[in-house]
Amino acid sequence: MSDAIQRTDLPFPLVARGKVRDVYDVGGDRLLIVATDRISAYDVVLPRAIPDKGMVLTQVTAWWLTRLAAAQPHHLIACDVDSIVAALPELAPHRDQVARRSMLVRRTTPVPVECVVRGYISGSAWREYRESGTLAGERLETGLTESARLSEPIFSPATKAERGAHDENITFADVEIQLGGALARELRDRSIQLYLQGAEIAHRAGIVVADTKFEFGVAQNGELLLIDEVLTPDSSRFWPADTYAPGRAQPSLDKQPVRDWLDSLGDAWDRRPPAPIPPDEVVRATTARYRELFERLTGTEPEAFADQPIGPAITSGGV
Ligand SMILES: Nc1ncnc2c1ncn2[C@@H]1O[C@H](COP(=O)(O)OP(=O)(O)OP(=O)(O)O)[C@@H](O)[C@H]1O
Ligand SMILES: [Mg+2]
Repeated sequence: MSDAIQRTDLPFPLVARGKVRDVYDVGGDRLLIVATDRISAYDVVLPRAIPDKGMVLTQVTAWWLTRLAAAQPHHLIACDVDSIVAALPELAPHRDQVARRSMLVRRTTPVPVECVVRGYISGSAWREYRESGTLAGERLETGLTESARLSEPIFSPATKAERGAHDENITFADVEIQLGGALARELRDRSIQLYLQGAEIAHRAGIVVADTKFEFGVAQNGELLLIDEVLTPDSSRFWPADTYAPGRAQPSLDKQPVRDWLDSLGDAWDRRPPAPIPPDEVVRATTARYRELFERLTGTEPEAFADQPIGPAITSGGV
């Protein structure tokens, strides 16, 4: 296990420090996206980082990009450290900060809609359904219980909230008004294809993809690229298939130790920053969860996948 990185400091202009990623403008219409080991829960970043988390997020995304036909075209140019340092020699003294957790990507203008796909009803969708019988504003089949499988996956978009705010669910009609019908349909259809392809692969590894979120961006040449992270434990709800049973909440394959610990604090934390500091055993259990997810899904250890001599075979249209 490597030391956890809470923030990076690299010799390029910082475009954004998100909840998890430090994003640098490295010129030539490219970004360097570095997944740190920061972890957020209830939209608040915890004061302690989780070793190996950034590596797992980056390598899981790279792994999916090589496997999902609907991922093309996407933003990834390179994610093995040798290729990145070859493209950006300024990073040579900073290999340790960059290795295994970074992606060199094509810079886009992100489409301001979170493309959520749900195959099962959970979280905010379950709350909406319980209250109004709808999902994303549209009426759903009756009689669903918590965590039930939907008869087909549903596109349930959300606005991209400003920092500190919660994303808000919107209807497909809202997306059509905001972005136009053609782009709205392309986002929906590609997101559902990605979900179906990913869920089938995960199913073979004993993992249920309950829901997930994709982001797309428009490249300088007008191409719509799949960007950001793809089918990671941070952007998805992954459930172990062997214990899945509708009618209750399911254990999640990633942040569950952190969530359980925070929930055990009850009213001692009001879910506003600053969050409390997770104890060692919670940090250790969370690292183990992220690693286990990677290994179950891919059949390899994240270090072994990341350090393949030529890097994962990434092909991106247009690069
Ligand atoms: N190819 C790309 N071009 C432009 N922006 C991108 C690209 N890929 C990812 N991003 C952006 O980089 C950021 C990644 O940072 P991070 O995931 O930490 O953000 P976050 O905390 O999820 O917050 P938010 O996604 O709401 O900004 C996101 O804002 C994402 O939209
Ligand atoms: Mg993000």
